[in-house]
Amino acid sequence: MTNNDCGCNSGTHGPVLTRESVLLAIETSCDDSCAAVLTGDGTVLASVVHSQDSIHERYGGVVPEVASRAHVERLTAVVSEACRQSAVALADLTAVAVTVGPGLIGALLVGVQTAKAIAWSRRLPLIPVNHVHGHLAAVWLADPAARFPMVTLVASGGHTALFRVDGKDRFRCLGQTVDDAAGEAFDKGARLLGLGYPGGRELDELAEKGDPLAFTFPIGLRRSGGLDMSFSGVKTALYYLLRDMTPGERSERAADVAASYRAAVVEALISRLLQAGRTERVFTVALAGGVAANSLLRRRLLKEGVEAGLEVVVPPFAFCTDNAAMIGAAALSGPVLRYPAYLGVDASASLALGDWEPRKDPAVLDPA
Ligand code: KG4
Ligand code: ZN
Repeated sequence: MTNNDCGCNSGTHGPVLTRESVLLAIETSCDDSCAAVLTGDGTVLASVVHSQDSIHERYGGVVPEVASRAHVERLTAVVSEACRQSAVALADLTAVAVTVGPGLIGALLVGVQTAKAIAWSRRLPLIPVNHVHGHLAAVWLADPAARFPMVTLVASGGHTALFRVDGKDRFRCLGQTVDDAAGEAFDKGARLLGLGYPGGRELDELAEKGDPLAFTFPIGLRRSGGLDMSFSGVKTALYYLLRDMTPGERSERAADVAASYRAAVVEALISRLLQAGRTERVFTVALAGGVAANSLLRRRLLKEGVEAGLEVVVPPFAFCTDNAAMIGAAALSGPVLRYPAYLGVDASASLALGDWEPRKDPAVLDPA
């Protein structure tokens, strides 16, 4: 059973969802066009992701305007495919959920307008979702028995932060990167090493063949004692190391360089996650976000988390990278806005977790 009780008396809330509810979820915050269909008990009937990697590869990074246009071109087909795979027609839907931020504003707007149009056409309720809440929800989507409280590391190309999660809609940020995201560190490292795009996976694969002790890389904010992280130093160190090598050394030592670099980034992440797990006295530590696919990070958490007496949840890769199933899972504990209250909902590029509330615009709020 789900709930929509966020303590808000704005008169915007719609009906509580039930186990039988059928939810369409849409995610377009960055460069993946995603749609999923879930039932109210959190069962994923379909999850479709259209990656734009091949589009942005030639630029070496996501170009926001190109991403927005690609979402416009693909999203309708992605939604149709999710409906086809789940054998659910638009007429069967109970509610529509959508990522409203944070992310690329143009990309977000495509999802928000699409979701509003589908909801509006059938006068369905709409559930606005924070993208980071979605990443956190991937943990209980993957393991419905995961015990709260938990500490979850969300590490992707755009985010790197640690959250204490006391329930499906109760979270507090404990620490975050002060500069680059961990995924960005992997991607920029891969680029310096001449690997593929975005590069995190390729660097990980190369690192498996190398010696992690061959080179020493700095671990940002290591002695701070806090839970914030920094990844700009490790990236700069890699730049200078490769600059001072001959082309022959660069190709001969590539695997050792990748292994040592990965070890430093993973050490920064895992040390903070386990420190937070201990000091917050939680039952569970978990990973989320695309970087959770990293094989060393997964191995180390599964070993060291268990040794520390903690339960460990590492969701499958499909729920770690951006997807709409996690957005649907988060929506099941989000505010359900009834028609026409949500017509005033806007996308927000820099939405902080827990900050969202319905815009109080008398022209669109339902007075009931
Ligand atoms: O969550 P996600 O799909 O999108 C963002 O919100 O960014 O994460 C993508 C990030 C990219 O930086 C990608 O290189 C990284 O996750 N990634 C990895 C691995 N697989 C994907 N990083 C390290 N090791 C991997 N195996
Ligand atoms: Zn993400």
